[in-house]
Amino acid sequence: MRQDPLAYLTAELDTLREQGLYRRLRILEGRQQATTVFDGRSVVNLSSNNYLGLTTHPRLIEAAIQAIRDFGVGSGSVRTIAGTMSLHMELERRLAAFKHTEAVVVFQSGFAANAGTVSSVLTKEDVVISDSLNHASIIDGCRLSRAAIKVFPHKDVDAARAILRDLPASQRKLLITDGVFSMDGDLGPLPALCDLAEEFGCIMMVDDAHASGVFGRNGRGTVDHFHMHGRVDIQVGTLSKAFGSLGGYVAGSKDLIEFLYHRGRPFLFSTSHPPSVAATCLAALDVLEQEPEIIERLWDNTRFFKAGLTSLGFDTGISESPITPVIAGEGSRAMELSDRLFREGVFAQGIAFPTVAKDKARVRTIVTATHTKDELQFALDAFKKVGSELGLI
Ligand SMILES: Cc1ncc(COP(=O)(O)O)c(C=O)c1O
Repeated sequence: MRQDPLAYLTAELDTLREQGLYRRLRILEGRQQATTVFDGRSVVNLSSNNYLGLTTHPRLIEAAIQAIRDFGVGSGSVRTIAGTMSLHMELERRLAAFKHTEAVVVFQSGFAANAGTVSSVLTKEDVVISDSLNHASIIDGCRLSRAAIKVFPHKDVDAARAILRDLPASQRKLLITDGVFSMDGDLGPLPALCDLAEEFGCIMMVDDAHASGVFGRNGRGTVDHFHMHGRVDIQVGTLSKAFGSLGGYVAGSKDLIEFLYHRGRPFLFSTSHPPSVAATCLAALDVLEQEPEIIERLWDNTRFFKAGLTSLGFDTGISESPITPVIAGEGSRAMELSDRLFREGVFAQGIAFPTVAKDKARVRTIVTATHTKDELQFALDAFKKVGSELGLI
């Protein structure tokens, strides 16, 4: 009989089970919203990136339905052949105006935007200087580019400077950071990195996936938050989190965007968004511009929930954003915390190595603008009960 050549994968899964790190996918049976049904249980949902509740906003839903009626359900081609619809172009124009940049290109996801951009603007002669906690899509983009990769410890600007000092002045350099780090919720040191990029002649790039719709005026991101307009060459944002829909975009100079139209591989080789996606993103921009109080509600809930966790005595790390980790230590402990919370009616996903350091496993919480104070208090009461049972507080 033929031996299974994939048996080593089964062995890896067994190891995960032994370590308590094996995860079943939780199945969402209702809408992605503040209280919803996962795996047959109604829970307060602290695990989505739906910061502003836009996944179910009536204006976005209407926009999607109208676009389907007007344009159908699919684009039918990659952007560079027959798949550029007028809605795609309108979205790029609106995003460029929103971001105060010359131009924008939209990719199928934030992942594709990061990986497609880094891999196409760099060659194997170049070097990228990257924060140790940058997102996987940046890491993959760096690897695909074949540029040399120099990693500096998280947010350590002096270490980044030391790396830059040792590099030849003539070598092309990309300095890259997340705007908001997705597992700890802290901000990249953008002003100091912009200074460094100017001193050493680097291309400066920021991945604002978790800042899009959350930081800056009307959710314009960390460049706006830190008043760094004109000092960041490449800004990536996502349309999949606070925007409530799907996609990623790159904002920058007209030539950068035209170059990505010609060389960004996900843009060239993967079908463009259905028209309903572009239409919902346009409606999300309308909401950000016309209903900014929704962002204020997000921050009000964030302050309430963080203060609650801290006063209970949890270790919530160094977060400065609506992402608040509750650090549990070992991976199996974080998973136990997550499972027990779920049984109490709260969904906060456990996250362990390799996504975070081995001794820093956690549950990650994200509140949204649409949680009520009662829902958040219910979640805090569950954290108090389970945290005491597990000796975390
Ligand atoms: C920091 C960061 N960058 C990029 C992405 C990718 O965004 P998307 O989900 O739109 O592919 C994510 C999301 O998972 C993220 O957390």
